[in-house]
Amino acid sequence: MPAGEAEAYWRGAAEAVAAGDILLWAILDDDGPVGTIQLHPVGKPNGAHRAEVAKLMVHPRARGRGLAKQLMAVAEQAARDLGRRLLVLDTVEGGVADGLYRRLGWTEAGRIPDFALKSGGGSEATVVFWKAI
Ligand SMILES: CC(C)(COP(=O)(O)OP(=O)(O)OC[C@H]1O[C@@H](n2cnc3c(N)ncnc32)[C@H](O)[C@@H]1OP(=O)(O)O)[C@@H](O)C(=O)NCCC(=O)NCCS
Repeated sequence: MPAGEAEAYWRGAAEAVAAGDILLWAILDDDGPVGTIQLHPVGKPNGAHRAEVAKLMVHPRARGRGLAKQLMAVAEQAARDLGRRLLVLDTVEGGVADGLYRRLGWTEAGRIPDFALKSGGGSEATVVFWKAI
């Protein structure tokens, strides 16, 4: 992803946090952010019990230390505190996160082929998961 595109994304995310539309957590070490996760509570009346978990990412230098699990636990607790009892997320098929979510109690709802375009060309499938909390 071009740096400008990434920066625009994160500025938009910061505005959404400031507006109270999403919650975002980051883990920092001495060199900067090493992990992040977002919770997007659904704003529609029929989704007042539901939230989406998004953008779970851990920097390569900090992987394998349980940070992803910690971030997910924080997001889940925040969802409970907000009275949300159903979580959804999607992730690229076959990635590390796919297996991680299954071990953390998420259930696969289904697979959508050709979902996301890759920067180098082609596309990849996504897997949609849900979890009752
Ligand atoms: C997926 C990701 C968030 C995992 O972060 P992490 O902090 O390394 O994960 P944790 O240390 O909490 O490990 C969680 C589990 O995943 C396993 N795991 C982590 N990296 C792994 C790897 N490269 N291969 C296989 N298993 C791996 C751990 O062994 C652990 O397994 P366990 O549940 O049996 O204990 C990180 O690899 C990442 O940011 N990947 C790129 C972005 C991405 O795919 N995000 C998800 C988008 S929805």
